[in-house]
Amino acid sequence: MVATPSHTSQTSESKLMRDRVVLITGASRGIGAATAKLLGHHGAAVGVNYYGSEEAAQQVVEEISSDGGRAIAVKADVRDFQQVDAMVQKVSEAFGAIDTLVINAHAGFPMVPFVDYRWEDFEAKLLGELKGAFFPCKAVVPSMIEQNRGCIIAVSSSSSRNPSQGFSAHSTAKSGLDAFIKSLALELGSHGIRANVVAPGLTLTDATAGLPQEYKDASAQTVPMKRNGLPEDVASAILLLASEEARFITGAYLPVSGGIQML
Ligand SMILES: NC(=O)c1ccc[n+]([C@@H]2O[C@H](COP(=O)([O-])OP(=O)(O)OC[C@H]3O[C@@H](n4cnc5c(N)ncnc54)[C@H](OP(=O)(O)O)[C@@H]3O)[C@@H](O)[C@H]2O)c1
Repeated sequence: MVATPSHTSQTSESKLMRDRVVLITGASRGIGAATAKLLGHHGAAVGVNYYGSEEAAQQVVEEISSDGGRAIAVKADVRDFQQVDAMVQKVSEAFGAIDTLVINAHAGFPMVPFVDYRWEDFEAKLLGELKGAFFPCKAVVPSMIEQNRGCIIAVSSSSSRNPSQGFSAHSTAKSGLDAFIKSLALELGSHGIRANVVAPGLTLTDATAGLPQEYKDASAQTVPMKRNGLPEDVASAILLLASEEARFITGAYLPVSGGIQML
């Protein structure tokens, strides 16, 4: 029998993120939306970033509000520094300085064997992923340094260390993201800022909705826990790293993949 998540954290009365101001990129759908709801449930004021899905982002905000939390939807293309900077200002004006940043927005990519990969597509994925990390960090780190505290969590992928067929751009981009986050952990630790990575395996979101069901079923069978990931599984790992309980954890790479990736 396959064990399914109990979601105990959703019903818990503990407020692990009380008084925190969080910005989550790509929070209108998937892993970002689940993270926004969970961190909001735990007391954080949440900036719900979206790019194209305004209605979905507003829905996330409404769910957080009806759960007793605080959130606003903020539009920005994470690949554009001016838009990112304006978004950070908006969230800070609404709730105060951001102390927790979740880098999550999904930079899309074609699944293509290396021999057929066009440089333009490869470059777009690399730049999209790295701009989507560099720009939000550039915009929030100065105020984290002023506060002498901060937490940055990037959503990488198990592919950053264990590539799969057709994913060369994704693997390369995510391993660049891992190295970037480790560099921040090194450079910013003395300012009380932690930086960590969560690495999901195959997770059931819109990004993977187009995969054939047989592929997803076969993939689940290779996972020691015998199922694919859910957005809520990744959100829980992010909460764990974001909370004060993880106060001495930085530079870490946390697989969230039911045991398919063991370090
Ligand atoms: N799903 C998986 O199997 C899996 C596995 C490993 C890692 N990951 C990683 O997990 C993260 C989330 O993926 P997901 O599966 O949750 O994706 P998803 O369900 O497809 O959602 C993607 C999110 O990213 C946002 N986004 C896309 N481009 C953006 C941009 N330029 N600026 C701002 N936001 C943008 C979308 O916003 P709009 O809809 O508003 O445009 C949406 O909220 C990604 O970093 C992905 O690489 C996913």
